[in-house]
Amino acid sequence: MSTARGYFVSFEGGDGVGKTTHISLLGDWLGEVTGREVVLTREPGGTELGSTLRQAVLHGEDLDPRTEALLYAADRAHHVATVVRPALARGAVVVTDRYLDSSVAYQAGGRELAEQEIEDLSRWATGSLLPDVTVLLDLDPVEAAGRLGGPPDRLERAGSDFHRRTREAFLRRAAADPDRWIVMDASAPREDVQAQIRVDVAARLGLTPAVPAHHPAERESP
Ligand SMILES: Nc1ncnc2c1ncn2[C@@H]1O[C@H](COP(=O)(O)OP(=O)(O)OP(=O)(O)O)[C@@H](O)[C@H]1O
Ligand SMILES: [Mg+2]
Repeated sequence: MSTARGYFVSFEGGDGVGKTTHISLLGDWLGEVTGREVVLTREPGGTELGSTLRQAVLHGEDLDPRTEALLYAADRAHHVATVVRPALARGAVVVTDRYLDSSVAYQAGGRELAEQEIEDLSRWATGSLLPDVTVLLDLDPVEAAGRLGGPPDRLERAGSDFHRRTREAFLRRAAADPDRWIVMDASAPREDVQAQIRVDVAARLGLTPAVPAHHPAERESP
């Protein structure tokens, strides 16, 4: 396990695949089964500085790829130093909505920078902190776009080729490191996706199998 006391889980995938939905459900459940503090956070934007950087990256002027990569790395460095590491040191379960794999998939897969450079930048920024488990919610970008309402942000406007390359980059990374990654078919009904996430995450983290949280009677000890 790469973290000292807590558990570090990241969720990855394109826009609209269900990350926020499943992180919220999984977070509640992990709190119940582990009895630990649960910290739900996100990148970019899990800190005050991060909110500023998120605004600049997602809603500001057009950025060249290197500037964009550095802003994400700066957000990540600050997020890890001030939120993630302190929480793990307290023994918390940290679940983050996106982490360094998003940078590699979007900046290298989507924007065509060198994958290894982006990864090295993130490793440097985080002191090489990797999640214990990373859940990839995999979904056709066209189907995912159909789930999202409201006006698209700058990344969502980048076009379908960009999103297709990004999806492929996530899948490649997952295939290259199956010990860390869980790949979920996110087109299934959300209850089914969540149930499978719980089973797989519990197995990876070595949590003892527990009865689902919505059957309280069955959880009581005799
Ligand atoms: N398995 C599912 N089947 C159908 N709809 C789903 C499923 N999971 C989530 N949704 C719906 O899809 C929409 C997008 O989900 P959500 O906001 O969780 O995705 P996200 O990955 O966090 O998106 P974003 O990248 O915009 O933050 C929501 O309306 C959500 O209710
Ligand atoms: Mg979301």
